[in-house]
Amino acid sequence: MKVDVLLGLQWGDEGKGKVVDVLTPRYDVVARFQGGPNAGHTLEFEGHKYVLRSIPSGIFQEGRINVIGNGVVLDPILFMEEAEALEKSGVEMKKLLKISKKAHLILPTHRLLDAANEAAKGSGKIGTTGKGIGPTYTDKISRNGLRVGDTLSPDFAGRYAAAKSRHLAALASLGVTDPDVEALERKWMQAVEYIHQYDLADTEHLINGYLHDGKKVLCEGAQGTMLDVDFGSYPFVTSSNTVTAGACTGLGVAPNRIGEVYGIFKAYCTRVGSGPFPTELFDETGRQIRDIGHEYGAVTGRERRCGWIDLVALRYAVMINGVTQLIMMKSDVLDGFDTVKACTAYRVNGETVTDFPYDVDGLEIEPVYTEMPGWKTPMSGMTSESEMPGAFLDYVAFLEKELGAPITILSVGPDRAQTILRQ
Ligand code: GDP
Ligand code: IMO
Ligand code: MG
Repeated sequence: MKVDVLLGLQWGDEGKGKVVDVLTPRYDVVARFQGGPNAGHTLEFEGHKYVLRSIPSGIFQEGRINVIGNGVVLDPILFMEEAEALEKSGVEMKKLLKISKKAHLILPTHRLLDAANEAAKGSGKIGTTGKGIGPTYTDKISRNGLRVGDTLSPDFAGRYAAAKSRHLAALASLGVTDPDVEALERKWMQAVEYIHQYDLADTEHLINGYLHDGKKVLCEGAQGTMLDVDFGSYPFVTSSNTVTAGACTGLGVAPNRIGEVYGIFKAYCTRVGSGPFPTELFDETGRQIRDIGHEYGAVTGRERRCGWIDLVALRYAVMINGVTQLIMMKSDVLDGFDTVKACTAYRVNGETVTDFPYDVDGLEIEPVYTEMPGWKTPMSGMTSESEMPGAFLDYVAFLEKELGAPITILSVGPDRAQTILRQ
């Protein structure tokens, strides 16, 4: 068997959680492969709304195994809060969830370092989620990290203390002296004990075993391609590989085991935090998209920056990920617009550019738009493609041609049921 991968093609918040939940009935296993509680994946069904941070979005579909892979960074406190809330709502967490022993731990001091690093950058700050993501992956790559499996070792307390004192020295060099970590630390240690109630495993063996047994596995990405540490708008990115290749390293799945790659995007574009955004709108249209699309962070409530769809960035994302199927979200948000625009190229210093540029952050970019008539029809109650307005289907066909892959799912609202599967 092969694994299928679902990931974001833009700057995150494309609607990954919703679609993973919709697709899970086709799978036996759902696995997260990177990122951590910087993610906020929203699911809505039967009148309830849930926001998942570290736990895969397959958790609500009965009997499915969910895996937190080695590529994920885990904050025990946030994990415990999330898992306990789900247990209260009846999810059999300890039966359904497996956690990689190789996943790295976010320490309380990682969060403090995240904040201190951001403060030190001043106006050049990244606008991180403040969850300690960058410092934790930094420790991983510099071979200083602590992993979930290490908490089972007799010398864990000593290793924790060594990491903490290294972090305190780094904090002092950033001007943060005597931070109050004691209370957080106590809670963190309790949360580590809580995690010991779960199946802590070498999940690469589990996943490959599932594939060997003919089970179907869906890998769930977090963040989006334009936030990838290698291919995104560096340095305004997250600290992990959010692209398809990240599923290989983040779960221990060989590249020749990748099957379908579902690339998910919004009918427009959003971004939270700092960094380049060529099609960003600062006008009334941008505000309208934000209001109609409720474009505020799922966790932080931060206002998301909004703009028209960027096909230069999307074509790049389709290429890097080897996307085989596209999924278009939030089509309904554009229902009321007289015209819709899509950026097909950038004008840079008088030249037309169609490849996403290396120095996107330093360039004066003028988007080149194709404008199309809006469909001016509410679509959120529609349940099949045959009901959809011609102008909308023309827009979909235009996008498929520009992106070179079929759009197989159209989402017209936040609820599980507001999803149209195309033939
Ligand atoms: P994720 O991080 O990729 O899982 O996405 P988020 O959950 O952060 O953000 C997507 C937001 O859009 C959530 O509030 C969803 O409930 C909502 N949403 C998802 N699909 C649709 C859709 O088709 N239409 C509308 N109007 N909202 C949607
Ligand atoms: P989901 O999975 C949108 C952004 C932050 C910041 C940058 C780095 O819900 O799509 P970090 O805390 O990772 O060091 O922040 O990345 N960012 C996201 N933006 N959706 C996300 O996740 C994000 N996770 C991180 O806003 O600009
Ligand atoms: Mg999100």
